[in-house]
Amino acid sequence: MLPIEFKDKKFHLYNKNLSYIIKISEHGDVLGAYFGARTDLCGVDVIRPVCNSFSPYPYEDDSSYTPGIMPSEYPVSNGCDYRTPALDITLPDGSKTLFLKYKEHKILNGKPKINGLPSVYTENDAEAQTLVITEEDNGKNITVNLYYAVFEDFNAICRHAQIINNGENPVFLNSAQSVCADFPEGDYEYIHLCGAHTREKHIERNAVHQGSQGFESRRGASGHTENPFLAFFEKGANEKNGNVYGFSLVYSGNHKFEIELENCAAPRVTAGINPFSFRYKLDKEESFSTPEAVLVFSQNGLGEMSQTYHKLYRTRLCRGKFKNLPRPILINNWEATYFNFDREKLIKIADTASKIGIELFVLDDGWFGKRDNSFSSLGDWFANEEKLGGNLKSLADAINKKGMKFGLWFEPEMISEDSNLYRAHPDWAIGIPNRPKHYARHQLVLDYTRSDVRDYIVKTVSNVLDSANIEYVKWDMNRNITDAFSQKLAPDRQGEFYHRYILGLYEVLEKITSSHPNILFESCSGGGGRCDPGMLYYMPQCWASDNTDAVERLYIQYGSSLVYPMSSVGTHISASPNHQLLRTTSLSMRACTAMNGAFGYELDLSALGGDEIEEMKKQVEFYKRIRNVITTGTFYRLVNPFEKRQASWQYVSEDKEKSIVYYSVANALSCQPIKNLKLRGLDENAEYKLGDTVYTGRTLMNYGIFINDIETESFNRIIEIEKVTPI
Ligand code: DGJ
Repeated sequence: MLPIEFKDKKFHLYNKNLSYIIKISEHGDVLGAYFGARTDLCGVDVIRPVCNSFSPYPYEDDSSYTPGIMPSEYPVSNGCDYRTPALDITLPDGSKTLFLKYKEHKILNGKPKINGLPSVYTENDAEAQTLVITEEDNGKNITVNLYYAVFEDFNAICRHAQIINNGENPVFLNSAQSVCADFPEGDYEYIHLCGAHTREKHIERNAVHQGSQGFESRRGASGHTENPFLAFFEKGANEKNGNVYGFSLVYSGNHKFEIELENCAAPRVTAGINPFSFRYKLDKEESFSTPEAVLVFSQNGLGEMSQTYHKLYRTRLCRGKFKNLPRPILINNWEATYFNFDREKLIKIADTASKIGIELFVLDDGWFGKRDNSFSSLGDWFANEEKLGGNLKSLADAINKKGMKFGLWFEPEMISEDSNLYRAHPDWAIGIPNRPKHYARHQLVLDYTRSDVRDYIVKTVSNVLDSANIEYVKWDMNRNITDAFSQKLAPDRQGEFYHRYILGLYEVLEKITSSHPNILFESCSGGGGRCDPGMLYYMPQCWASDNTDAVERLYIQYGSSLVYPMSSVGTHISASPNHQLLRTTSLSMRACTAMNGAFGYELDLSALGGDEIEEMKKQVEFYKRIRNVITTGTFYRLVNPFEKRQASWQYVSEDKEKSIVYYSVANALSCQPIKNLKLRGLDENAEYKLGDTVYTGRTLMNYGIFINDIETESFNRIIEIEKVTPI
């Protein structure tokens, strides 16, 4: 590992591709000097900006020293800096101004964990170094530790902050951001992943303009509408070219990303927990740690940024034995039966599934309590033996006998009013006593800020998991929080509710997943309502969307690929016409979309004809052959559906021996044949076999391949390319 350098009051965090330079100013302020392609320390500095009488300064004898228009690493409110602060605090006397000054620093080998929060990890200390800069306002007894981890092999910097109250009296945090990064003057653009339920992670690209812009979630979850991710880049950057900075927050709750261009034209990016409804009390000696922000730098466009996130998140954020393994092909009964099933129906589906070669049978919503619709039973995590024709063990055994694993759906953060749990503990549901409540999908949310609620859930879910051979769990969450309030929190701590909910969730997830290491967990929130890096730490895959239409999914999966490894993206073949859009697509088109990531089926297999079953057998056989490349290969985006109404992407195995190319038409009317679909990532001097023809890697990448006939709807191709082994 290259050491973090400290020289002339400057820190240089670097690896062979990137540099992050921090300067301690002559007055002890911690300033950001540079973030970008690898440079050397000598010559990099923070230049005093040109200021005017509207640029306040803290030292009367040094009036050209104006930190408010300098690049600050962790700016505070109410001082010289009028831009968005990283830290906004109310001190015991009601005042807000802090003078945070460098006190000391330490450099650690490896990367420490963040208490109670998910974060990127190292497998040994040689992989990364962490710089901890301690800033202090002595007069006000506040300490801030700024953490920066730099990796030998990833072009990423992980940042978070810890705020400590060393005083006798409580202080209140009104905002404590994970990252603040000021960039030099220039023309910039940004991308965010936005949408709605069934339209997650659509790519929106905007120019950065004067003023404040950004996005946020106020839903108590990362949400369908804005994923906690920002790509900020030099104007004109594309898949292959340009300096790109990714900001990804390892957090599943309320978040806020802001880009601000104020006064002088140097943009500031801040990201972290949304200050909306946030007010966190720190008593004497208490501390607060922000979630981690993972900053990725790419000098070669968006493609390389995504590749860094994919590998970092797959290998150093996801945990457990499944993280690098191809996932079992599953059949999920939700779109096959919804709530309307019995044992006979399930077994019929399982029979066909096992003939097709499917490896895992997932029983979705409706197996517990008295749940035959969405009005009841959430919280009552015991099997409805009448409906299942026996207990869970007997069903799991029956599925196992057919050569398949058995998996189960849960929604453990929820409670139905019509449930035994609610009748016993109405106060466990989030709500304000003696006030009306707000419902969604006829359900309420459990108060995970309470330890009694968390303990109950860990116990009851674990009991079910230990009662049968359950090898997969889908952890769902089907509404967002309203009436944020806990009967267990003091009035002056209610502003902690949203964050404490997420801390509570993480505690429950840690306990359940670590005590069941052989279960593959998939997270879900009405599809992609909480597909974020925080959840990936506990569960290595996420159901990408409740929209299973093969065309709509092209957009959702293309957007997901900006940050998330394809191994983590849950994708299924569903019925045609599709249940959400009523669109008809061919089975091969549906496979071309779904065979990307954690692949499965979600339709009534028992109702299919022989031809379709035969085609599915071939799909399953094919996917089993290629899924290693899909899971661990390097991912390249080739054609952007948001621009071209057709989509193409490619996986290349790490040894460049094998590559899989996907191409599909989203709208045949607006498509022209592609004459030169230029592939990427191959060995240019090697020969590759594509069908019966052999091409050099150079030809495939520089000339490309020809795709015609695309005027038909549902047109698609999956192209397998293999290196020719010299005889
Ligand atoms: C929402 C999920 O996204 C669906 O896949 C399904 O599990 C339903 N919930 C069940 O209620």
